[in-house]
Amino acid sequence: MMSLTWSLVRTTEQAALAAWPQTGCGDKNRIDGLAVSAMRQALNNIPMQGRIVIGEGEIDKAPMLWIGEEVGNGMGIEVDIAVDPIEGTRMVAMGQSNALAVMAFAPRGSLLHAPDMYMKKLVVNKKAKGAINLALPLEDNLRNVADALGKPLEMLRMATLDKPRLRPAIEEASRLGVKVYALPDGDVAASVLTCQHDNLFDVMFTIGGAPEGVISACAVKALNGDMQAELIDFCQAKGESDEHRQIAESERRRCAEMGVDINRVYFLDELITSRDILFSATGVTGGDLLGGIQQMPNGLHTHTLLICGIDQTCNIIDSLHSW
Ligand code: FBP
Repeated sequence: MMSLTWSLVRTTEQAALAAWPQTGCGDKNRIDGLAVSAMRQALNNIPMQGRIVIGEGEIDKAPMLWIGEEVGNGMGIEVDIAVDPIEGTRMVAMGQSNALAVMAFAPRGSLLHAPDMYMKKLVVNKKAKGAINLALPLEDNLRNVADALGKPLEMLRMATLDKPRLRPAIEEASRLGVKVYALPDGDVAASVLTCQHDNLFDVMFTIGGAPEGVISACAVKALNGDMQAELIDFCQAKGESDEHRQIAESERRRCAEMGVDINRVYFLDELITSRDILFSATGVTGGDLLGGIQQMPNGLHTHTLLICGIDQTCNIIDSLHSW
C-alpha cells in the first residue's frame, strides 16, 4: 500500500483543486461533479487494480464514483477505496469553512460494504479505547468516556452535527454539562479531530452518512482510536412518511444484497479489518483540521493530511501547484 502514498495524495489534491474555484457558487452538484471527474482521472493513472467500495452521492443524488466501479490502470495490487470527493459540498457551495476532499485505500476485502444511507457513529481516541458501547444510551457513553479520561463531564467536549435528528442528543449532552460542538457539516473532520494527538474533541457522536462513517473508520483505526457504528434507515433519521418508508424499504433491500444489517452495532475491526490503511484529506475551504486552498503569486497552495496505518505516521503535506 505504501507505494501508492503519493498517488493518493495527488488524487485528493486534484479533487480539491477542481472544486475550490466554485467556492460560493451555490451549486452542490456542480462542485461534486468537478471533484468526481478530477478524482476519476487521477485514480485511473495509478498502477493498481482499484475498486470503489464506499462511494457517496445516493442520499442527495449527487454525481458519484459508483460503488463497484473499477479504477486504476489495471496493473499492480488490488485496492479497496472509500471515497467522499468533497466532504462538505454544502460548505463549498455556501462559501463556508471545513470542506475536504477525502479518500482512503485499504487491502481488497477489508472495508465494510455499506450502501449510502444514514449511520449512527460514536468515536473516541486511544485514551478512551474500549469505553464506548453504542448499544447503551448516550448518557452512559458520555459518563464512561469521561471516567476513562479522568475528566468531569463539564470538561468533556462532544462533537456532533447541527441537524434536527441530533437535537435530542445535543440537549441530553448539554443537560449533563458536556460541552457540545454542533458543527453544520463534516463528521470525517470531526472524527479525525477526536483521534489526533492534540485532540480538539473527546468524543464524536453523530448520525450522518455511512460512506463518511467507513472513511472515518479508516482514519480512526490508523490513529489507534475507537469507533462503533450502526446503520439506520431513512425513517429513523428523518421521520416517518410514505416517501421515507419507500426509501427505507429500498435501503433494506440494498443492505440485504450487500450482506450488512440495519440496527446492528458494528465494531471498528468490522468496519475496517486491516491496519494497512492510507487516508488522505486535502482542505478545500479552511477549517479546524486543515487550511483551505490559497492563491499564491506563483500558484495554488494545498494542505493535505496523510495518515498511514502501517507505520503509524501523520504527515501534513503542503504543495504548491504551479502549472
Ligand atoms: P457531504 O458533503 O459529502 O454530503 O457530507 C457532509 C455531511 O455533513 C457529512 O459529514 C455527514 O455525514 C452528512 O453530510 C450528513 O448528512 P445530511 O447532509 O443528510 O445531514
